[in-house]
Formats: sequence, C-alpha cells, structure tokens
Amino acid sequence: SVPIIRRRAELAARIAEWRAEGARIGVVPTMGALHAGHLSLVEGAKAGADRVIVTLFVNPRQFNSPEDYAKYPRTEEADAAILAPAGVDALYVPEPEEIYPPGFATSVSVSGLTEVLCGAHRPGHFDGVATVVTKLFRQTGADAAWFGEKDFQQLLLVRRLSADLDLGVEVVACPTIRETDGLALSSRNARLSPEARGAAAALPREMAGMAEALGQGAAMTDLVPDAEARLRAAGFTQVEYLELRAADDLRLLDRSGAPARLFAAAWIGGVRLIDNIAVSG
Ligand code: PAJ
Repeated sequence: SVPIIRRRAELAARIAEWRAEGARIGVVPTMGALHAGHLSLVEGAKAGADRVIVTLFVNPRQFNSPEDYAKYPRTEEADAAILAPAGVDALYVPEPEEIYPPGFATSVSVSGLTEVLCGAHRPGHFDGVATVVTKLFRQTGADAAWFGEKDFQQLLLVRRLSADLDLGVEVVACPTIRETDGLALSSRNARLSPEARGAAAALPREMAGMAEALGQGAAMTDLVPDAEARLRAAGFTQVEYLELRAADDLRLLDRSGAPARLFAAAWIGGVRLIDNIAVSG
C-alpha cells in the first residue's frame, strides 16, 4: 500500500531522507478521482525520478463556484488502492491548513498565457492553480513534475511559473489518455448520463476532422461554423471556445503554420468538457 502523509512536517522529514540518499524527486499533482490519465503521469514519473510523490488536494481556490467544488468527486480510498501497485513512494493528502493557513493572503498570477481560453471563461481559476502548484512544488521540493497535455494551458502556465519564480522544477508533459471512442479521460466524465456520454465523443471526432483539414491548409473561419453546428446536433448545448492557437504562447491563429493546437471547451448534459490536439503545419 502507499504511505499516506497528511502533514507538511512529516513530508519534509521523508524528503530529507530521500535527499540524503541523493534521490531525484518527482511529483504528480492531482485532485484525486484518479483514472488511467493520472496513472500515465505516475508511470512517467517512475521512469524519470527515483522517488515519486503523488499529491491529492481538491483546491477550493481554483473552482468557480462553491457548488462545483462541493460536487467534485472525493474518492481517497479508491485513489490509494489504484496507486498501490504503481510503486509510488508517498501520497501527500495535505490537511487544508497545510496549504492555506489562517490569514493566507498571497496569490500567484501568471499573466498573458492565462488570459485566453479557460482563463477567459473561468475567472480566478488559473490564479488558484498557480498558487496551489507553487505551494506543492515548495512543499515537496521536487526536481521534476509530470503534467498532462489534457490541460495544455495549465501545463504552459506551470512551466512559466516554475521558471519565473526560480522554483527549479522541470515540468514534463504527458500525452492525453483517451477512451476507445476518443473522449479524453476526465474525472468529470463520471457526471455524464449514459446518453450524454455516448454523444460526448463527437467533440474529439470533430476536432480530429478539423485538425486534418487545417493540416491541408483550411482556415478556421471556414471550418468553425459547420463544426459548431454538428456539435449542437450531436447534443452539445454550448461551445465555449473552439480555437487554433500557437503551442508556445497561445496566440490566436487562423491557419496552421507554426506548431499549433486546436482547443475546445463545450457543454453537454450540464458538464463542461475540454480537449486539445496538435495540428500539423
Ligand atoms: P487533475 O484534474 O486531477 O489532473 C491532474 C493531472 O492529470 C493534470 O496534470 C492533468 O493534465 C492530468 N490529466 C487529467 N486527465 C488526463 C488525461 N486524460 N490524460 C493525461 N493526463 C491527464 O489538473 C489538476 O488536477 C489541478 O489543476 C492541479 C494541477 C492538481 C492543481 O490543483
């Protein structure tokens, strides 16, 4: 089984032992409700570090509403069981006051990258992410951290933050793990009704079609209206964004050229899904 650590002092003692052994320490930050996507990050960390810490903290500061925070799945026992065979050295499940002590008044904000896509639709979300990731990087003292391309904007922001604040954490990107019908694994998929779950695969399917057309020279302005109409016909109630952006700084593009990615956020059955894929230039 995986040793569960809830206190920062205990984590620090463990890390000091590992440091004394000369170990390279890896961290995989999560909010739990673990699935194969998270496990792929753990595998990456196992291959790239001597000691691996998985963190589980449902971070109130990155949710846009108290209801969304309350509804987030909490499955600590199942998470610990899933991690047991993965060879993780510690599961850090901090008590809330270890992250946000009384009087906590600091927020970390990364400009530029966070003003578009999810940042434009979820006010305060990325400040919450940047703040908690800074805390988790400092508390674990990790040499490297594994993040999923599923949340591509988050991945870029964490890279920026680690460099800007001299946190010294190398940020490693891992490809998105998908169901057989193409839907990206997400803890939120569990909230989809069977009907919505069946229809949800239209999102990655449309995106794959668009990526192919973009690779052959098509422009977003020509593709987006039809794609949105097909998503609505499939059961999506709202397309929040469907945009082509540069993979390095997220500047908006109409055609592929520089390394680019297609990004989408859309609602189905009351659940907000996000996805992104590479577009060849
Ligand atoms: P969470 O949504 O639990 O995701 C934790 C990590 O798993 C993130 O790096 C995310 O990109 C990755 N991940 C999720 N689904 C994936 C998939 N289908 N394939 C590959 N990787 C996937 O992201 C967060 O938590 C939080 O914002 C956090 C960084 C922990 C800060 O609170």
